[in-house]
Amino acid sequence: MLDKAQEVKQTALQEINLAKTFQELESFRIKFLARKGLIADLFDRMRELPSDQLPAVGKSLNELRSFVQALYEDKKNQLESAQKPKKEYLDLTLPGRERWVGSKHPITQTLDEIKRIFFGMGFGIATGPEIEDDYHNFEALNFPPDHPARDMQDTFFVTDNILLRTHTSPVQIRVMEQRQPPVQVIVPGRVYRNEAISARSYCLFHQVEGLYVDRGVTFSELKGTLVSFTKQFYGSDIKYRFRPSFFPFTEPSAEMDITCFLCKGSGCRVCKYAGWLEILGCGMVDPNVFKFVGYDTEAYSGYAFGMGIERIAMLRYGIDDIRILFENDVRFLKQF
Ligand code: PHE
Repeated sequence: MLDKAQEVKQTALQEINLAKTFQELESFRIKFLARKGLIADLFDRMRELPSDQLPAVGKSLNELRSFVQALYEDKKNQLESAQKPKKEYLDLTLPGRERWVGSKHPITQTLDEIKRIFFGMGFGIATGPEIEDDYHNFEALNFPPDHPARDMQDTFFVTDNILLRTHTSPVQIRVMEQRQPPVQVIVPGRVYRNEAISARSYCLFHQVEGLYVDRGVTFSELKGTLVSFTKQFYGSDIKYRFRPSFFPFTEPSAEMDITCFLCKGSGCRVCKYAGWLEILGCGMVDPNVFKFVGYDTEAYSGYAFGMGIERIAMLRYGIDDIRILFENDVRFLKQF
């Protein structure tokens, strides 16, 4: 049996050299390696052997099979590489492969820029839940029980007491509940309002809140901080003004306007012919709010502000429909 195996090995060694085409190679494979080939036949004949010879014979037959299989594979590779053209040519006229790189959403880009500026002025970051309770969204912010902002028209209620936050101001309360002054944070986040969807308003948008509380914080520091932000963000030649306003949680309160970036103040469609654009609300934290979080109203004062990111991004990039910011159409996003 072992002689027989040796014989098959010699024949295979001779015949592999005779195979010059794929067809001849295939005949070689069928003769030696196929299911009814010479090697399989030898395995079959092991049945006739006494059992003490089986291990030795089995081992040498396995070796034979691997050996012939390797002869076959080598020859196949040879034939295949002989088929390829000797030299590969580089076609310099082919167009290059374009690399597609994603980009940040314009809202994220705007937010990154706002964060960078406030980090530079010493602010940290705080965040809070988008699903809020009435206490943090309204009550602790000094909204009277019958305030119109609590109306079903504006707020998405989950239950009587749980709602989708309508602004980022509840995070002011959460931060002050957890730490003692000094507190100096900005709070970026999503907010929700139950408004009719149009080119100017959407059911969700983003705000950045600011809160600074310490001993002796004044309104002029609030103005200084916001003026510095505005100049860094919109350019140092921007004109601005503060108008008195009202928010339940700040006293006094103000809104900040900048000259319209499009008409530079002479009046156009974007600023509705006013020459000014409102960019944020702000004010000194109302002492009633400090009472809710247990801060000493004699020792501490602070300011807060809040701005809408979509509005700022729309003004910045000249986008006239807020809905396009939420559709994620790549034809739009690719431009940023
Ligand atoms: N939370 C207010 C809003 O949603 C903005 C604001 C924040 C005003 C902080 C004053 C101070 O309109």
